[in-house]
Amino acid sequence: MSSKNLVCLLALFILLLEPSFEQIKEAIQSNKLDDDCCNLFGIQWLTLSTNPCKCYWVGTQLDWFEAYNNCASGDYDGGFELLITLISIDSAFENQKIRMSSNTTSASCTQVFIGLTKKGNDWTWVNGENLTYTNWRSGYPDNNILNGCALLNLSDGKWTNVPCIGLSTCYACETIL
Ligand SMILES: *[C@@H]1O[C@H](CO)[C@@H](O)[C@H](O)[C@H]1NC(C)=O
Ligand SMILES: *[C@@H]1O[C@H](CO)[C@@H](O)[C@H](O)[C@H]1NC(C)=O
Ligand SMILES: *[C@@H]1O[C@H](CO)[C@@H](O)[C@H](O)[C@H]1NC(C)=O
Repeated sequence: MSSKNLVCLLALFILLLEPSFEQIKEAIQSNKLDDDCCNLFGIQWLTLSTNPCKCYWVGTQLDWFEAYNNCASGDYDGGFELLITLISIDSAFENQKIRMSSNTTSASCTQVFIGLTKKGNDWTWVNGENLTYTNWRSGYPDNNILNGCALLNLSDGKWTNVPCIGLSTCYACETIL
């Protein structure tokens, strides 16, 4: 292979690895990506929903507050910034999809923190979405004022409320394209 061809190949490689935001939008809008609308980000992103295209990934061993901060600092390094937050769940379908994360990521997680936290008397999603779906375990959320953050049990999909600080486990971050 000539060195010129090699340079072209490398350039193509870099282009493929780092699609521009416009390329991603275009691909999504042209509907070519269907259920794989998050694949352009690389292996760690999973598709939660396609309309809108919600992408998520699962990380390990942080407490809720650390996870909250870690999601926000995980901006995609492809020349543009994305708003990334702890995940919000809007339907039983999404809840089910996240449950499958235990075997679609390399992390072996039994529970994941989600972006639901208690503000005053109300449970609210950290990304500002309205709370339209919940899947609390019977008896939850309990009224313990210290249990201000929500955790999803991957084995049955039920949510419990637990302390936001000091309990480390897996967590899921999301972005919407
Ligand atoms: C993932 O794990 C669940 C529960 O353990 C199991 O029912 C399901 O078949 C697994 N899915 C895959 C793709 O391995
Ligand atoms: C949330 O609900 C309120 C009241 O129903 C509504 O006005 C608002 O547009 C909703 N916000 C979003 C982001 O859907
Ligand atoms: C998760 O749910 C399963 C099934 O209900 C239960 O056996 C297990 O104890 C739960 N895990 C935790 C940590 O609560």
